Amino acid sequence: GRIHHHRFVVKSSTYTRLCSTKNILTVNGIFPGPTLKANRGDTLIIKFYNQAQYNITLHWHGVKQARNPWSDGAAFINQCPIRAGKSFTYKIHLTDEEGTIWWHAHIGWARATIHGMIIVYPVNGQNYPFRKPYAEIPILLGEWWKKNVMEIEENANKTGGEPILSDAYTINGQPGDLYPCSKQETFRVEVEQGKTYLLRIVSAIMDENVFFAIANHKLVLVGTDGFYTKPFETDYIMITPGQSMDILFEANQPITRRYYLAARAYSSAIGAGFDNTTTTAILHYKQTTKRNLIPSSPLLPSLPHYNDTRASTEFTSKFKSLASKDHPIEVPLKINTHLFFTVSVNLLNCSGENPCDGPYGKRFSASVNNVSFVPPKIDILRAYYYNVSGVFGRNFPENPPKKFDYTGEDLGDEYLTPEFGTRVLVLEYNASVELVLQGTNVLASDNHPIHLHGYGFYVVGSGFSNFDPEKDTLGYNLVDPPQETTVGIPNNGWVAVRFRADNPGVWLLHCHLERHQSWGMSTVFVVKNGDTAQSKILPPPYDLPSCSD
Ligand code: C2O
Ligand code: CU
Repeated sequence: GRIHHHRFVVKSSTYTRLCSTKNILTVNGIFPGPTLKANRGDTLIIKFYNQAQYNITLHWHGVKQARNPWSDGAAFINQCPIRAGKSFTYKIHLTDEEGTIWWHAHIGWARATIHGMIIVYPVNGQNYPFRKPYAEIPILLGEWWKKNVMEIEENANKTGGEPILSDAYTINGQPGDLYPCSKQETFRVEVEQGKTYLLRIVSAIMDENVFFAIANHKLVLVGTDGFYTKPFETDYIMITPGQSMDILFEANQPITRRYYLAARAYSSAIGAGFDNTTTTAILHYKQTTKRNLIPSSPLLPSLPHYNDTRASTEFTSKFKSLASKDHPIEVPLKINTHLFFTVSVNLLNCSGENPCDGPYGKRFSASVNNVSFVPPKIDILRAYYYNVSGVFGRNFPENPPKKFDYTGEDLGDEYLTPEFGTRVLVLEYNASVELVLQGTNVLASDNHPIHLHGYGFYVVGSGFSNFDPEKDTLGYNLVDPPQETTVGIPNNGWVAVRFRADNPGVWLLHCHLERHQSWGMSTVFVVKNGDTAQSKILPPPYDLPSCSD
């Protein structure tokens, strides 16, 4: 493969949205950030300079980073943050992923504005597993706050309540013309009658799952998270923060009308506030004469209702891998490591110094197997590699500390309080792992988008209510389960994923709803080295950022 060199300078730049102007963190002054394009098998070398007044790291979301956790970029997991004035070189070898993925800052809330798309084309000279589209259209979904996003997490931490809602959802950085002061800049795309287009959709949204559709046009899903899928037709999609989707559509509607692309919340958390506004872009057809277009407003697609969990599940349950000769899959069939993780939003009692403006006069928290993750002072990878003790514990539980009716109605206070800790779960090299992620109703249920670094896992099953190891395993798809790096746990339900632990390193697992991650809904896998030279963590880079001043 080829080697692509890029220079990423993080700095503060001035942007105006919704009639208000502020400084945001950008890469190279561009928002959304630059798109990286490469073929599978290529290597990206990103020289990253931090010219902002914040500590930053960058993560290449959906890249396997085979044996190279040093470039995975999760702050205090894979590296210490790059401080103002410092630089670091990320080395990204694109071995497994093909399609649309993305990159983003991986510290605090910096990813709200520091993010961009990564497009991985097939190996040079090879074709897509579908008919070549006439053109591709990037759709980067995001959120815009009028306030400084770097202070939102801080403020929420101070009060113990929820972080403030964004002021708009965005498509390619623009709220769209249903929001005030946004008409002129609305993202527009021109298509030609009869042609097929490839939408490359990424959700860089911070805190909400969304439905997305194009008025009057059918969508055909052909890939997700950098893996191809068996094509199927749908009127809408549901996409969680962190996910990406490759979608074909045919421009086959009357050229005299204009059509909205629109996204709006899928918010399943009962009681939680959410932003019910709609972001739009406009699709129009190339005109054949000067007078074709009817001067009327664009057609809006009909999107499922904001709490329509059935519509969400109906869509995601259709995902299947291609599982073809050219795109084979390897689902582990014999499992030697069974893991069961509950994922909860919790409440904490208040102590003297901490104000408590959360529900019931308490503070929000979140956990996996009732452990709320506490970031260490130096990164876990360095501590593991160099045997530094006292940074993390190896005792993350394989099962929840106690069994209960996870999705029951009134779970009461005894389930509400998590423990705190920096604990990892150690996996043997090549372990065949099944991980069941069980949503709970401890405080409130939600569709938690769980993301695993370093791996694409197979989603072999999912369902509502409590996972039943006897019955539910019978319904597993072991033939063509979809491969993903971020999966939504259905609201008040569970999802089962499988993977072979063939990528040694230190890998973060977390909810991609930013507020849940801030509250501690994370844990870490440490995958041991194998015996051969080809199955060990690569040596650390020479410019590893230091952890002290
Ligand atoms: Cu998209 Cu850990 O991140
Ligand atoms: Cu969550």
